[in-house]
Amino acid sequence: MMDNQGRSRGSPRKTSAFEGCSVVIHASLMVGFALTTLSPQPLRAQRADQSPTFARDVAPILQASCQGCHREGSIAPMSLVTYEEVRPWAPMIRERVVSGEMPPWPLDKTIGIQEFKNDVSLDDDEVETIARWVDSGAPMGNPDDLPPPVEWASFENDWQYEKHFGRPPDIVVASPAYTVPGNELDHWPNLETEVPGLAESRWIRAVEIRPADPDTRYVFHHANPSIIQDGGSVAVGHSAAGTVGYIFPNDTGQALKPGARVRFGMHLFPIERDVDAVLQLGFWLYPEVEVPDFETPGEVIHEASQSTGFGHEMDSAPGFGPDRGSGGGRGGTSSDSQFPRQVDLLIPPHSTATYRGVYVMDRPARIHSVRGHMHLRGRYQVIEAIYPDGRWEVINKLDWHHGWQTAFLYEDHVMPLLPKGTVLMVTNVFDNTVNNPHNPDPNQWVVRGDRTVDEMSHARIGITYFDHEEDFERLVRERERVLAEMERERLQANR
Ligand code: HEC
Repeated sequence: MMDNQGRSRGSPRKTSAFEGCSVVIHASLMVGFALTTLSPQPLRAQRADQSPTFARDVAPILQASCQGCHREGSIAPMSLVTYEEVRPWAPMIRERVVSGEMPPWPLDKTIGIQEFKNDVSLDDDEVETIARWVDSGAPMGNPDDLPPPVEWASFENDWQYEKHFGRPPDIVVASPAYTVPGNELDHWPNLETEVPGLAESRWIRAVEIRPADPDTRYVFHHANPSIIQDGGSVAVGHSAAGTVGYIFPNDTGQALKPGARVRFGMHLFPIERDVDAVLQLGFWLYPEVEVPDFETPGEVIHEASQSTGFGHEMDSAPGFGPDRGSGGGRGGTSSDSQFPRQVDLLIPPHSTATYRGVYVMDRPARIHSVRGHMHLRGRYQVIEAIYPDGRWEVINKLDWHHGWQTAFLYEDHVMPLLPKGTVLMVTNVFDNTVNNPHNPDPNQWVVRGDRTVDEMSHARIGITYFDHEEDFERLVRERERVLAEMERERLQANR
């Protein structure tokens, strides 16, 4: 089904990725997987009357969608490479795959845009294959059917986007080594490095952010690096479990000027021994002579901190009725080009709470990625647009899971195009009751703060603003042309 921006809707899946999840993942786990557009599609040449086998049907799915994390020395708790390794996990694999928790893709597939450059989720056929394989006793099948094992790059050479661009990053910026002493409290070191080898200005096409070695991975919680130049600083994205990096639209970039410095913005998490931590940023650049049409500020914070009331028993408590918004009215009236600024958060014990940020676009814009941010009480996040012509659209619903900080990168032909005057709304729903399996203590009042037991409430929107209406109109016409072309090809293929 296509809506009027030509986006096709995903087929509904039984359960959202969030439901039934009970394990908090240590956020220092760095995610590694290939862009699905590039990994070979698993073979699914099986007839409905045959039960699936490991060798023929299941191994290719595990290679394409699981082993990036589930192999010796990678981040997941067990290797899923050989039949002997996989077999004992079969019932658990069925459970995690059917519930949508594995592979991690915390997005509601029943609503909103479903085409992403970094989609790692399984399609319905693959889920079905795994479920039927387990239900029929998880047989090995004929070993001759086994696909050749995947040859994984060594950690040092393992840049995920290398497959996409066909070359390693053009520039690698490494942080100074920072010793994280064993058994201490968290560290937030203030590290900077000048970007090497910049004789003239260049434009960033993509960035990947990663711990430089397995040791750093143990102590790495997350990073919010930025580029410092021209007396200002601009975010270059984020790194944590679920986010590899960012690939910008192919007409858009971020400038890197001679003398630019990278500030690493790391949060490190000591283990039982001393570790020298090094973070790397890999930049893929536009060719030397090329200047992209548009410059993006990267990810921009859209706060969702206007209370819209509390749910459950607190609705009737004095002073906390639905009309008592904390700082209500200020969000959404941001006077600068950024989204609504922080207001406040206050989540009573044993209650749910909904916070929202509303912003009227003062210029046309294009969204290339979204990433949610909440902590342990976060349940889900809805991003909506009301267009100037009155159309209303849920752009996406993110099923929040604190262990996975996934940035969702839209395919080029579905990136939301927002005319000036569009109302962009971000709504975050918190659950501070016993029903939230991640809730460390439902008796607590929860306030805003950096600690994991406090809360935060925003979305990071990867966006490009257009100062000239003509540029935006050109992109709208180009989109219409691309969608019409895709539709023609689809009809042709169906003939
Ligand atoms: C992005 C990395 C990543 C990918 C891809 C991934 N996993 Fe996982 N998986 C993890 C991590 C980390 C854990 C441990 C945390 C947790 O249980 O959620 C885990 C846990 C699991 C568990 C539960 C283990 C336990 O001890 O409870 C199962 C089963 C599982 N994964 C199966 C799969 C399957 C099957 C696939 C592919 C269809 C897959 N995973 C893809 C990272 C990944």
